[in-house]
Amino acid sequence: VAMLLLWGAIGYLLGSIPTGVILARVMGLGDLRTIGSGNIGATNVLRTGNKRAAALTLLGDALKGAIAVLLASAFASSYDAVQLAALAALIGHCFPVWLGFRGGKGVATFLGIMLALVPLAGLIACAIWGLTAKFGKISSLAALLAAGWTPIVLVLIGRGDLFALATVLAILIYLRHWANIARLRKGTEPKIGAKS
Ligand code: G3P
Repeated sequence: VAMLLLWGAIGYLLGSIPTGVILARVMGLGDLRTIGSGNIGATNVLRTGNKRAAALTLLGDALKGAIAVLLASAFASSYDAVQLAALAALIGHCFPVWLGFRGGKGVATFLGIMLALVPLAGLIACAIWGLTAKFGKISSLAALLAAGWTPIVLVLIGRGDLFALATVLAILIYLRHWANIARLRKGTEPKIGAKS
């Protein structure tokens, strides 16, 4: 149990690093939480017009999820600890103690987690996300499809042991996208790169 708590804490601390907020500040873009949707993710960094900062945010948020999984895979003695580190990293990103628990929506961190856990499933999630973003031009829709399909993809490729974890991660992402889902249903969700 102590081991599980340790990996949960490590995952949470890694996930809670607010990459977007830090990069926006360091790169002189202002306080991300007062820009666009106020979200701390790459999609919102892009609303500042700075593509490099957005790409770095995407990369950083994905990396922290991947690193949590890779560290646990290398050093933890059980696969439960690996899964807990993954879940904790996503929770850390969505509810970081440093930002009064008001964090992001988990998409980039989810992709990083999946790439590190099961590279094939991660690549498929990235493909669903990337293709939907490219052709549909709506970031939240891309995220919802990628997260929603991942548990099913895992079963299809013989990693049904991760179905429960992936489902919990997807549910968390859907809950964080509640306002986006409402706008998608009304047809008012903004396109990628739009200022508001
Ligand atoms: O990754 C977050 C994205 O799906 C939606 O972000 O800023 O449009 O609410 P945002």
